[in-house]
Amino acid sequence: MDAHLLTKIIHMSAVSLLIIAFVLRAATLFIGVQNQQPNPKGFKGLVGLQHLSLTLIILTGAILVVMKNFDVAPWFYAKVILFFVLWSSLIKTYKKDSSVLLQQRRAGLLIGTVALAGIVGLVIIKPVFA
Ligand code: HEM
Repeated sequence: MDAHLLTKIIHMSAVSLLIIAFVLRAATLFIGVQNQQPNPKGFKGLVGLQHLSLTLIILTGAILVVMKNFDVAPWFYAKVILFFVLWSSLIKTYKKDSSVLLQQRRAGLLIGTVALAGIVGLVIIKPVFA
């Protein structure tokens, strides 16, 4: 198997891990919430899974860009911007600060969901801007 394909498989596996972490963490805002704060169960594991997947995505993504000699499609830039939207929304949604209300966290989750869905849509549709 060539290095490009292998890197792509790791990239996409890391994306699957991120989606799992995203969904499970989102559940902590709805199930077993405690005084306006997310469910603390499995906090360390979920944070770990989220960090691992995001780190792998960024590393393999950067390697893929280099492997392609920076010859990327126009939609790739939209994907990177949405990735930063997703990343910052995750940071805000799960900030360790008891003054942040559950409603505010859920609003953050909505932004993250739109960004993630947008990225997945771009990757599937690969839009061509004529
Ligand atoms: C949640 C975020 C992300 C998702 C869901 C995602 C998903 C994917 C998928 C499914 C592919 C394979 C597409 C195909 O070949 O048909 C891919 C390729 C690629 N990804 Fe990502 N990705 C994400 C983040 C990133 C980031 C942050 C970077 C850059 C640092 C990146 C760089 C790349 C590159 C360069 C390719 C092209 C590989 C190629 O065509 O040879 N990705 N991504």
